[in-house]
Amino acid sequence: MKLLVCNDYDEMSKKAAALIAAQVKLFPESILGLATGSTPIGTYDELIRLYNAGEIDFSEIETVNLDEYVGLGPDHEQSYRHFMNKQLFNHVNIDPEMTHVPNGLAANPEEEAENYEMMVECLGGIDLQVLGLGPNGHIGFNEPDSFFTPATHVVNLSKETIDANSRFFASRAEVPHQAITLGVKQIMQAGKIILLVNGEKKARALKAAVTGPVTPDLPASILQLHPDCTVFADEAACEWIYDD
Ligand code: F6R
Repeated sequence: MKLLVCNDYDEMSKKAAALIAAQVKLFPESILGLATGSTPIGTYDELIRLYNAGEIDFSEIETVNLDEYVGLGPDHEQSYRHFMNKQLFNHVNIDPEMTHVPNGLAANPEEEAENYEMMVECLGGIDLQVLGLGPNGHIGFNEPDSFFTPATHVVNLSKETIDANSRFFASRAEVPHQAITLGVKQIMQAGKIILLVNGEKKARALKAAVTGPVTPDLPASILQLHPDCTVFADEAACEWIYDD
């Protein structure tokens, strides 16, 4: 695991986008694993800028998103499908058919999770996975637990995640309580992983993920075992480095 301390959010976003852009240029048929949330927005903005500058081409890229809220469809402003269309897909030349997000409106979410797992398997897995970090150490929606869940699954969101994500909804009561998420297997099998972390609210989780024991209680800690994981973090998330 490599930790790259960036001056600020802007530098973090640009450096991470440069690595993704290199993947897209060198391997134009890559499968990109993508995250939502506030953290990767700057990275996606930079990818759009690089696309508009003629530096990258998404025409053969296929994407697999990490997760989706159970009960939210593409028309819901807070669905992750809506987010991806708005923040990236609508602005680059990616084929919409080649973008995958779990269906939050599936009648049987467990079956949707199984099908999603098979779909990723059939694609041959993920070449480069982008991750954000939950304040409780989650990656995707793999929440702290007493065990790691390998496969794509339906998860009950923790109180901390519901609290953290309520900032995107009109009220806390509107935050869905369940999501479909890739499990740690597909994430850990990705060829390359980029973990994006900014802000002091993530400092505790980042320190534990990077320096603590590998434990399902802090799911991101498993990334220590990945052979090619780069953490792009801003200074605020890394203040613990300078302690003592
Ligand atoms: C989103 C996801 C989550 C977020 C994490 C951080 O697809 O999988 O793990 O990356 O909750 O969210 P933000 O970036 O909003 O702080």
